Amino acid sequence: MNRRDFIVLFNVSWFVSSLSVVFTTTYATQPKPKLKRKSSKSENWLHVGTVGELDETGQILKEKSPFGSILVIGTSKSKNLIAVNPTCTHMGCTVEWEVEEKIFLCPCHASEFGVDGKVQNGPATKPLSTYMTKIEGNSVMVRRS
Ligand code: FES
Repeated sequence: MNRRDFIVLFNVSWFVSSLSVVFTTTYATQPKPKLKRKSSKSENWLHVGTVGELDETGQILKEKSPFGSILVIGTSKSKNLIAVNPTCTHMGCTVEWEVEEKIFLCPCHASEFGVDGKVQNGPATKPLSTYMTKIEGNSVMVRRS
């Protein structure tokens, strides 16, 4: 290999190796296109009862659902329905809605929870899980918050 061939070969090698650096820095730093997420289960609304059932007693208790137990409080005339998992976070009893006081009261050890599920009086220390609610046609619907 003479000097001229060496210089040509060196320049070609340098050029090819530079292309890989340019390619990598150009495409590796490009923001990746966002994939459309399929709706997850948390985005799905769950039918828990009818407006008639809700208006009759002011509450619907659905003990088994993919979200766990669900207690919906209110009527179709309510501005906001309240929905919680009524399983007491202390030892698992089912809380009851106290209309006058507007609290969830546990019959086992008297823990009290607000409409937002937060503990107002122990012994429970963790809040009740809450759900979003809506009325769609004749259906009372909830989904995870
Ligand atoms: S189980 Fe509810 S306060 Fe103990």
